[in-house]
Amino acid sequence: MIPARVAVLISGRGSNLGALLDAAEAPGYPARIALVLSNRPDVAGLELAAGRGVAARCIDHRPFARDRAAHEAAIHAALTEHGIGLVCLAGYMRLLTPFLVSAWAGRMLNVHPSLLPAFPGLDTHARALAGGVKLHGCTVHLVTDQMDAGPILAQAAVPVLPGDTEASLAARVLIQEHRIYPKALRLYASGVPGAYDGAASLASPLPPLAFTP
Ligand code: GAR
Repeated sequence: MIPARVAVLISGRGSNLGALLDAAEAPGYPARIALVLSNRPDVAGLELAAGRGVAARCIDHRPFARDRAAHEAAIHAALTEHGIGLVCLAGYMRLLTPFLVSAWAGRMLNVHPSLLPAFPGLDTHARALAGGVKLHGCTVHLVTDQMDAGPILAQAAVPVLPGDTEASLAARVLIQEHRIYPKALRLYASGVPGAYDGAASLASPLPPLAFTP
């Protein structure tokens, strides 16, 4: 099997990128990270990628001002230029327009720091604490035109503990993100015939990953 060529889109730290890079080094992993794109310059994730010998580029959104379509056209061109088959959003903090979402339909994954459909959007840990939930977690899902609402590929739950702060809860969730994102990508890349050449299909749904207590 030819490993899918994956682009990881980031906006910052890149710890999920690190987890994906580590996983993709394993023999037989069905994907390799071929490109990292950031919409912000000088972020740790770009340095991490470059240090691992992966093509890493900033396509800064600011010069495009409000022209989101032009920014996304530049991203799409870079993805095409690098022969990318699957895209992983990993802390990419820009809302996508229907253009990029439809161009990569079935071939774009995202990791979100909540148990979707609970807490889509921002500030998920603070909202989980304010809501008094006893279980929180993270989700890997396909990206669709509805924000944080595409088909779920994997989830992991963590307990909310007495005395938790936003930071302590975020740290516990992040450990699980690093666990399930590489697993979900492995399963999805294996189950997407020809992800490399773009012939992706949602016809064969993946088995859900085990829900962790
Ligand atoms: C992660 O917690 C990820 O789930 C979240 O940003 C963080 C990025 O961390 N993504 C979102 O909130 C997307 N809506 P990282 O840069 O260390 O991977």
